[in-house]
Amino acid sequence: MPDSTPLDASRPRILTGDTPTGQLHLGHWVGSVKRRVELQDTHDCYFILANLHAFTTRADRADEIRRDTLEIVRDYLAMGIDPKRATIFLQSEVPAISELTFLFAMLLPFNRVMRNPTLKDEIKVKNLGETYSFGFPLYAVGQTADILAFRPVGVPVGEDQVPHLELTREVARRFNQMYCGVVDTVEDDDHEREGGVFPIPRAEVGKVGRLVGTDGVNKMSKSLGNAIFITDTAKQIRKKVSKIYTGRQSPTEPGDVGNALFQYVEAFIEDEGRIAELKDRYARGDDLGDGHVKVEVAEAIDRLIAPMRERRKAFEGDDDRIIAILRDGCERANATAEATLALAKDACGLGFFKRSLSMA
Ligand code: TRP
Repeated sequence: MPDSTPLDASRPRILTGDTPTGQLHLGHWVGSVKRRVELQDTHDCYFILANLHAFTTRADRADEIRRDTLEIVRDYLAMGIDPKRATIFLQSEVPAISELTFLFAMLLPFNRVMRNPTLKDEIKVKNLGETYSFGFPLYAVGQTADILAFRPVGVPVGEDQVPHLELTREVARRFNQMYCGVVDTVEDDDHEREGGVFPIPRAEVGKVGRLVGTDGVNKMSKSLGNAIFITDTAKQIRKKVSKIYTGRQSPTEPGDVGNALFQYVEAFIEDEGRIAELKDRYARGDDLGDGHVKVEVAEAIDRLIAPMRERRKAFEGDDDRIIAILRDGCERANATAEATLALAKDACGLGFFKRSLSMA
């Protein structure tokens, strides 16, 4: 993999990222990181570590958030995100994001924010009840600023993030209409041409859905204990894969090629011809046992993960090296976000004097 291609701002810009909640697993790879690695060759990529958002539900665990943030960078690097070709940065070190969040919070009715289905879902799933902080729903507004501070054309995300993108598009339209004289009949694609500060960014939802976990039932997730990590050894992978539940009784029973095991076959076996052959024999009950398929899947996963595991080892322990990469990324991210903020402040009568940020 060449790592010397310079960052190219003439390419279409995209932004996406993660809230640091722990180690990344194969579900993240399949659902998003793989795509990001490809986008590095064609787009001007910004990857945000939404560490401030982690505080909205875990403010009492700041040390853990810091550790998770550094770990996620190690996972990115191990999976092939290249800091020479993409900008990896910390939300907390780009103050323009917080400043835009405050301005954007005035553009959305409170009830509109609370109607966001992803927020509602989280309140339910994380059992936040009536006890969530004032800051919790603010993260949805914050995410609109994460995105718009970089004025990207697209935001590659999973299905669950689409409501946040809808909110982002609303904020961008409203800002452009309220402060930049864009009239409300202007099409989304014409907002910048008509003088709007913000493009109306698209959600780019990947074709690949969520990877089912090794329980064969729920989506892969660290907290459900059904995840394969890139730090797993070949032996651990084999053991986890052997547990994928299919409910099939015998190798001569016609199998369902839509089952969890075959999602893994499709996701990890590279040879299309081999996939077709396995599917055909499995569906016909042609003496192809689950155990046999599982061995092949485990081998394929190990082939994928082995180089990641090696690369990750090289970054273990050395926080300073990770922080240096983030510092670099934050410097570039700030250059972009400060420029956007200056335009936005000018548009809403807050442009009093210029300023520049510098990092020591
Ligand atoms: N909310 C996203 C998640 O939980 C993470 C995130 C924060 C994000 N800011 C973003 C994703 C901006 C895309 C763009 O996964």
